[in-house]
Amino acid sequence: MQSQGDVSCAADDRKRKVFVKSYGCQMNVYDATRMTDVLAGEGYEETTAIEDADLVVLNTCHIREHASEKIYSELGKIRQLKQERAARGVDTKIAVAGCVAQAEGGEIQRRQPAVDLVVGPQNYHRLPELLRRTGNGAGVVDTEFPVEDKFDHLAPPTAEKIRSRGLSAFVTVQEGCDNFCTFCVVPYTRGAEVSRPVRQILDEVERLAASGVCEVSLLGQNVNAYHGEGPKGDAWSLAQLATRIAQVPGIARIRYTTSHPNDMRDDLIEAHRDLPQLMPFLHLPVQSGSDRILALMNRKHTAADYLRQIERIRAARPDIALSSDFIVGFPGETEEEFRDTLRLIEEVKFASAFFFKYSPRPGTPAAGMDEQVSEEVKAERLARLKALVDKQRDDFNHVMLGQTVEVLFEKPGRRPGQIGGKTPWLHAVHVDGPQELIGQTARAHIIEIGVNSLYGRLVDSQTEADH
Ligand code: 5AD
Ligand code: SF4
Repeated sequence: MQSQGDVSCAADDRKRKVFVKSYGCQMNVYDATRMTDVLAGEGYEETTAIEDADLVVLNTCHIREHASEKIYSELGKIRQLKQERAARGVDTKIAVAGCVAQAEGGEIQRRQPAVDLVVGPQNYHRLPELLRRTGNGAGVVDTEFPVEDKFDHLAPPTAEKIRSRGLSAFVTVQEGCDNFCTFCVVPYTRGAEVSRPVRQILDEVERLAASGVCEVSLLGQNVNAYHGEGPKGDAWSLAQLATRIAQVPGIARIRYTTSHPNDMRDDLIEAHRDLPQLMPFLHLPVQSGSDRILALMNRKHTAADYLRQIERIRAARPDIALSSDFIVGFPGETEEEFRDTLRLIEEVKFASAFFFKYSPRPGTPAAGMDEQVSEEVKAERLARLKALVDKQRDDFNHVMLGQTVEVLFEKPGRRPGQIGGKTPWLHAVHVDGPQELIGQTARAHIIEIGVNSLYGRLVDSQTEADH
């Protein structure tokens, strides 16, 4: 039915709303912000209510088991919403972005025709044009790896947007991976490794800092392989980049993730010793403690190589907190090989870790390997690994009891009158304190250790002086 002229005019004037649901890694969280920034230029404002959305974006992750199936089931629900809104005469567009979009491409629209747009991670800068092309009812798919640099075309966030996102910001500095670990889809979904130029990253960090951001987490699938173009056309390392970012006024803390053990070079390790803004926390996935499994995974290092790296890092920065990713039940993994992983964990002592049951990803070499491990064995190994890592995390947290630490306060706490923040080692800390401290670093005396956070009392410098 054709609507009345004035009614349709009112509808055109209405601010359009976009709802973005992100799954998976921090880079997807970052990508979601970049997509909403691009869409803001098209008149879309963000909503947290999916039923109000004129555009629903599912920003998908392909790492977890049954990732695509979960997306199809989610899409089924969104299609219903689209139909309900259509019955009220309102149009809803559905876009699938992220790594499932890249991996499945046009198959998504074949299985769920309500989807208007499938867009891979390298094409977010094209969103406005792609959305316009959905207008004629045909589905649009863009999973090319374009030659142009998407970052050159992505609209930057406004100061207001930056402030609404908090004091700590993600900045992608490197994307994609050339390592081809045999279990991993990333080289296929995010493509070959690309480092952003230093100037582009500095512009982004300066903009963030000018609007109050004081902590940046530099993101990349293989971030310590960063080799972006420097100001004189030479390639800069991650250590050089971090050192330069540390000079941006207002940036108090720098973190980076995720790193590969083979790319922990001397200058990065030295930066952990010499650069106060570089936080003493390192996520360095090892995946397994068995040399045979590491070789099958194509990790290109042994357990001893990893331990040597840890030794070098700890020699430079003795208090560094370490975390890792582990996969249990990789094809052919024996009980003894799994125990090698437990032994490695015992030796390193991690502050935290992520652990996964191996799950075959179509198109990856490991998916076709013989001797897939049974679900029961994977579940049992995962439980044992988790128990060990949980114990190490508790030990790591308990060391903080009675200590005084620098906390960057980021947000109101769970209870009224509380504020919450992070230690340099990434513990969450809650204290009773004034909201004015949010955005600042202050010292807290840790008085209680919870499972997921520490509780502290603010250290009044006056009180300290009296002691
Ligand atoms: N099965 C299980 N875990 C996986 N990961 C990546 N691919 C798989 C897979 N096929 C884990 C790895 C990686 C983390 C991000 O996800 O441990 O470091
Ligand atoms: Fe995947 Fe990381 Fe291996 Fe690259 S280094 S293939 S992102 S697990």
